[in-house]
Amino acid sequence: MEADKIIETINLTKTYGHQTAVNSLSLEVREGEVFGFLGPNGAGKTTTLLMLLGLSRPSGGYSRVCGLDPLRMAREVKRLVGYLPENVGFYSDLNAVESLEYVATLNGIERTEASKKIHDLLELIGLSQDGRKKVGAFSRGMKQRLGIAEVLIRDPKVLFLDEPTIGLDPDGALRLIDLIQSLNRDRNITVLVSSHNLYQVQKISHRVGIMIDGKMVAEGSVESLAEEKFGVGDKEYSLEEIYMKYFQEV
Ligand SMILES: Nc1ncnc2c1ncn2[C@@H]1O[C@H](COP(=O)(O)OP(=O)(O)OP(=O)(O)O)[C@@H](O)[C@H]1O
Ligand SMILES: [Mg+2]
Repeated sequence: MEADKIIETINLTKTYGHQTAVNSLSLEVREGEVFGFLGPNGAGKTTTLLMLLGLSRPSGGYSRVCGLDPLRMAREVKRLVGYLPENVGFYSDLNAVESLEYVATLNGIERTEASKKIHDLLELIGLSQDGRKKVGAFSRGMKQRLGIAEVLIRDPKVLFLDEPTIGLDPDGALRLIDLIQSLNRDRNITVLVSSHNLYQVQKISHRVGIMIDGKMVAEGSVESLAEEKFGVGDKEYSLEEIYMKYFQEV
């Protein structure tokens, strides 16, 4: 494995009965980048993330995350990778500080260190004023941001974000996108983000991958994919135009 590849899959495959959810997928995410993971509903994005986390056993092929095999080294991989699932679950009776304390305890973080981290994280996600509010009373956007704080408390090297802005209002989505971008820029966290919001993905991704029917049909920077599909020209193409071109040709 080359040093700058932080995630790599080779012929990664997952079948459910007769159905192939992930079909001989080869994917490469480089250290320090934001990688936009795109594809229609049912393309196999979440299934891929679950295999990369060691939460789902591949039917074939293999993957490496930070140089480790997620199947054999599941604990180590989970320590290095922060995962924000599509639907984040919380204990609604706890307030934000208590939720973060709980996660800190689960991860063996010592109390004084935890309380400093929690203070800093609440500030980072813009919830300093809401630390004592019950999570059950949080809006969807607040919950998404708290979910990111829970994931960050372990200082991950890599973040897997599965449709993080779904259901957020435009302002909330923009703030979350800015937060993701700053985590990448300021803390050098590699981000693998799946999303259907192509405008947001284009804004923050260094490279994108388009997955259709379990296969990666395109992988590269937005500019390189535009060049591949439309040739070099004066016009700047949006990721949406590029995505639709690939989608229609499958
Ligand atoms: N546990 C499961 N059992 C059977 N089939 C499954 C299971 N999980 C996923 N699948 C199937 O695998 C395919 C890929 O699903 P997956 O959830 O990975 O798609 P996705 O790209 O994340 O889609 P979305 O954009 O809707 O979140 C789908 O056809 C889905 O029905
Ligand atoms: Mg999904």
